[in-house]
Amino acid sequence: MKREDFPMLDGNIVYFDNGATTLKPKCVVDDISDYYLEHTSNIHRGDYDAAIKTNKLYDETREIVAKFINANSSNEVVFTSGTTQSINMVVFGYMKKHLRKGDEILLTKSEHASNVLPWIKLAEEIGVVIKYIPLNEEYELTIDNLLKAITPNTKVISIAHVTNVIGDVRDIEEIGRICEEKKILFNVDGAQSVPHMKVDFKKCNIDFLSFSAHKMLGPTGVGVLVGKYDLLEDMDPIMYGGGMNQFFEEDNSYEVKHSPIKFEAGTPSIAGVIGLRRAILYLEEIGMDNIHKYEVELKKYMVSELEKIPNIVMYNKNSNSGILAFNIKDVFSQDTSVYLNHYNIYVRAGNHCTKMLKDEIKIKNTVRVSLYLYNTKEDIDRLVEVLKNSKDIFKIVI
Ligand code: ALA
Repeated sequence: MKREDFPMLDGNIVYFDNGATTLKPKCVVDDISDYYLEHTSNIHRGDYDAAIKTNKLYDETREIVAKFINANSSNEVVFTSGTTQSINMVVFGYMKKHLRKGDEILLTKSEHASNVLPWIKLAEEIGVVIKYIPLNEEYELTIDNLLKAITPNTKVISIAHVTNVIGDVRDIEEIGRICEEKKILFNVDGAQSVPHMKVDFKKCNIDFLSFSAHKMLGPTGVGVLVGKYDLLEDMDPIMYGGGMNQFFEEDNSYEVKHSPIKFEAGTPSIAGVIGLRRAILYLEEIGMDNIHKYEVELKKYMVSELEKIPNIVMYNKNSNSGILAFNIKDVFSQDTSVYLNHYNIYVRAGNHCTKMLKDEIKIKNTVRVSLYLYNTKEDIDRLVEVLKNSKDIFKIVI
């Protein structure tokens, strides 16, 4: 990895908003541009050279994703528009068909909106019951609390592998084992983990795993749902149209294709999938274990430096990822992010779409630094320097 691969870093900015979306290396943009300028064509329809090249790249990406997260086969890899669509597909295509009134879904209050609201809607529609597993004093999920929350009615555990504000890394291997033993469906939101560490779909006995390309150096508008093949075969599409059907007739009869094609109605984000392909190849070259190790080291450095500033309140010093939520004491988080922007430091402030976390951490809004592979100690030194001088904040934020 070279910082020069990321043209946006040329402008002297410090980019710390990787939990929201990551920067794109030039090679990803080049492949997308190549598709639009050199071989534009639809997929699975054309017999001409450009279409053959596009088909090859698109289909090869499925294989690359399957290997990247260790799925059983590429037939378990569905391209979607992103994590949000993937989770909605699971909830309304599979869960709605198989769950009944009174069945219990276990979530936590640190889940992102996209792993809460679809369940709330399902509860409204069919009467499933949502329960929130209590978090510990560091706002993390423990196996103990999870086990205590399971009842004979628990049918689904649906959690982020890594949460987007606290950044706690859940022990999904152990939770997957518990789910297998107790015959509970295991739905994993991988939006904040798949880009940052090795995730093993098979080893963790995951039933459904969702993630987004744009949080892992790829383009927006494309994501992945990985599901166990038999579950995907038993899941209904939520979109119907071209490409996904075998036939349809005047008498209303129709038949859909097998997974994954039955979930990809219409023309997909072809350029997006091609960009995702290059992003994964780029990440693999660095190595997911190296990326995780690097981010954790960098976070430790950031915490140790920020601890030296008396008016900084940190909420998740010990979580084992590159995410840190903090506030300047008595300063509204948005004011802090505007202040940091003045020095070309980009962070996210607010509730980060995790609107129930306030019940646990007793504060609605935080400033979030979320690190990635191109961040450096120098970036952190710049943040620390600016925060040290934050007594000037209201001269800048008016
Ligand atoms: N889910 C993204 C975030 O946490 C948008 O910032």
